[in-house]
Amino acid sequence: MNTVILILFAYLIGSIPSALWIGKLFYKIDIREHGSGNLGGTNTFRTLGVKAGLIVSIMDILKGTAATLLPLLPFFAATDINPLILGVVAVIGHMYPIFANFKGGKAVATSGGVLLAYHWPIFILMLLSFFVVLKLSKMVSFTSMVLGVIALVYTILYNIFFVKDIPLLVVILLLSSFILYRHRSNIARIKAGTEPKVKWL
Ligand code: G3P
Repeated sequence: MNTVILILFAYLIGSIPSALWIGKLFYKIDIREHGSGNLGGTNTFRTLGVKAGLIVSIMDILKGTAATLLPLLPFFAATDINPLILGVVAVIGHMYPIFANFKGGKAVATSGGVLLAYHWPIFILMLLSFFVVLKLSKMVSFTSMVLGVIALVYTILYNIFFVKDIPLLVVILLLSSFILYRHRSNIARIKAGTEPKVKWL
């Protein structure tokens, strides 16, 4: 029973549509009607500016972190579910949120939050790689997809040379696939040369 409640909680946490709620609450704007229409940090930066973009990105990261850390709560201590499963469920909630007609974000920030909770070095690597790849490509979407590949390569090397953690490897593979799948429209725009580029880096 505890496990079912945990999974439900993780989904509900992931479902919190930060971009939608921050936009509507503080700016009276539905960001689904602006920019790429995506409920994510990037579109919030684009539509509502740096402050809102940062708040939404941090909230989306923390959703993944909070869901992955749920088993640490005394109430759930008895469960032996792998926390990574809760992280994946939160990312699914983020992509298909019950509070926003099941049309959510593209899995990037919330996946990062899962890694922050489960294996923080990979989160730091992702954060640093984000700025390097973004500086070179100027496209957040392209950068997000490359991060998926970097995470995968890192985890394979980590498994070979340090600690064997097959569940982590499987989850990284899954999260990277989610990211790729959710960026289908971006891939089409990149191919057509119409994907927006950032000017601030
Ligand atoms: O994290 C989402 C980002 O990679 C792309 O967002 O709004 O440009 O489609 P967007």
